Amino acid sequence: MRGITKRFPGVLANDQVDFEALPGEVHALLGENGAGKSTLSNILTGLYRPDEGEMLLYGKPATFHAPRDAIDAGVGMVHQHFRLAASFTVAENLVLGHRDAADRGLLLEPRVVEGRIAELSRRYRMPVNPRARIWQLSVGEQQRVEILKVLYRGARILILDEPTSQLTPQEADDLFQTLRLMAAEQRTIIFISHKLEEVMAVSNRVTVLRRGKVIGTVMTGDTNTRELARMMVGRDVVFTQKKQGPAQAERQVALELRQVSATGDLGTPALHNVNLTVHAGEIVGVAGVAGNGQHELAEVVTGMRRRTSGQVIVTGRPARGSNPLEAIRRGIAYVPDDRLGTGVAPSLSVAENLVLKAFRRPPISTQGFLHPRRIRANAVELMRRFNIAASSPQTPARQLSGGNIQKVLLARELSSHPRVLVACSPTSGLDVGATDTVRGLLLEAARDGVGILLISEDLDEILALADRIAVLYGGRITGIVERQHAEVEQLGLMMAGAATK
Ligand SMILES: Nc1ncnc2c1ncn2[C@@H]1O[C@H](COP(=O)(O)OP(=O)(O)OP(=O)(O)O)[C@@H](O)[C@H]1O
Ligand SMILES: [Mg+2]
Repeated sequence: MRGITKRFPGVLANDQVDFEALPGEVHALLGENGAGKSTLSNILTGLYRPDEGEMLLYGKPATFHAPRDAIDAGVGMVHQHFRLAASFTVAENLVLGHRDAADRGLLLEPRVVEGRIAELSRRYRMPVNPRARIWQLSVGEQQRVEILKVLYRGARILILDEPTSQLTPQEADDLFQTLRLMAAEQRTIIFISHKLEEVMAVSNRVTVLRRGKVIGTVMTGDTNTRELARMMVGRDVVFTQKKQGPAQAERQVALELRQVSATGDLGTPALHNVNLTVHAGEIVGVAGVAGNGQHELAEVVTGMRRRTSGQVIVTGRPARGSNPLEAIRRGIAYVPDDRLGTGVAPSLSVAENLVLKAFRRPPISTQGFLHPRRIRANAVELMRRFNIAASSPQTPARQLSGGNIQKVLLARELSSHPRVLVACSPTSGLDVGATDTVRGLLLEAARDGVGILLISEDLDEILALADRIAVLYGGRITGIVERQHAEVEQLGLMMAGAATK
């Protein structure tokens, strides 16, 4: 890519970007939230047209008028937010919109498609059931489907936009293996991530963007995480976060689960007799590998999923049924892990998203009338406090960069003065600076007396924030430890289901 420039109203997303990637290389693309990584990838895949600049593929000028042109030229992208059709099967998603398949009926033959999928998933070690429907799959599995889809279409250049932000460490390791296998076949991998250790582990070279400009390209072997962070941010990054001891034992119980059981989306048992207590001012981390009941746990507490038995008690009062509105009224805030599905309304503006839970009440509305000026003022205030980069409060949420969408979500939930906050992977997709900010906000909320249930697969995050750590395995709490006594190895074993004392 040579001299690529892309403007959006009020934003210079890419500014004279020169970027080069080689066959057989894993090339990492780094930069803060809003630096222009996704925009550059979207240009490379024909989703956006650049305002200036040119692209060459294997030395030949290439102009893409639509994603289809890029696919035909062998460029494929796994997007930051997946784009699979949830009610279709894996096999159907792979052939969906595939030109060859439509032209030649044979390729749509389920057995042929399934055979090809089986072959690809063997070759790249990405097991997946071709007949499963997308909604039945975990995030990690869905991502495999996205990658298989790109490979299925014969991509030689693959762009992965934050592929690991929602994967377990094990799934991420598996993905890196797959990437190496693909690079060994002389494919080109462009890898976007905020996790510097991952970049160090998997890439050959790194290009850093800052505010739309290329800051530099370095060999991974010649650099380190400190230097990369400095290139991204433009100054030294000091991680100030340090969890002080637990808040002066305010021992009031904020949230209590008694013998809670629930079933998953497939109707199979997902939670078994879970007992868990979160005190006001306490952060309880729930560690575990995805798919062990975390999602169901979060949904039961926030009233989005029915319990089959047991009680959810918030500040002493048992929840009657399972009703999200009731949960909101009782002061339960929720930061879900699928920010674009459950978290925000992508087509509504930033300002509207920020009042989604407050618009029925004063000061946002009185006597059934909304007050646009207050909605705007609320947005201006929260955008400042949470450092949300958007061109205006009226900008639709979907136009924000991934990290900024996450900040909108956090701003709305934390500003609602909750008693209990259920936070699922709250810093996923955030750059180093924003991660630091969000962790600070969570600690501050705890100091203000909010009881926080922090559900995350990121053990480092849990160890950095939680007072106590519960491990969820197979829908059961297999142990609860104080953070001071937590050992990573022990937790890892518990997460893998090893028996504990
Ligand atoms: N479709 C769009 N319309 C208007 N502005 C956009 C659009 N897409 C991106 N932007 C803006 O362009 C800038 C770069 O965004 P981009 O999504 O490329 O960032 P990013 O580096 O991928 O960030 P993140 O790490 O948060 O995903 C941001 O200011 C964003 O708000
Ligand atoms: Mg992005």
